[in-house]
Amino acid sequence: MTNACDQCHRDLAAMIVCSCNVLSDNDVRSALSGDDAARTCGEVYGCLGCSAQCGRCARTIRRIMNEALAGTDVAYCRATGNS
Ligand code: FES
Repeated sequence: MTNACDQCHRDLAAMIVCSCNVLSDNDVRSALSGDDAARTCGEVYGCLGCSAQCGRCARTIRRIMNEALAGTDVAYCRATGNS
C-alpha cells in the first residue's frame, strides 16, 4: 500500500515547504544527494526543475539543507514549520 497522491504521486506524508513550486521537505532532501547534489537554494530549485518565485521558502530550504548536511535532520511540525 502506498501513501502517495494518485495524481502527482508525491508522498502525502511530506510537508510542503515551497507553495509556489509545490515542493516538499522530501523533495528538497532528494536534491541534496548524489554526485551533483545541490549546495545552494538556487541549485535546489534547479535540481527540482523550477526556480524561486516569491522566495518565502528560502529560509526553510536553507535550514533543511543545513540539517541534512550536518546529519542532524529532524522532523518538522506541520502546523508551525518549527522543529
Ligand atoms: S514559497 Fe517558494 S518561491 Fe514562493
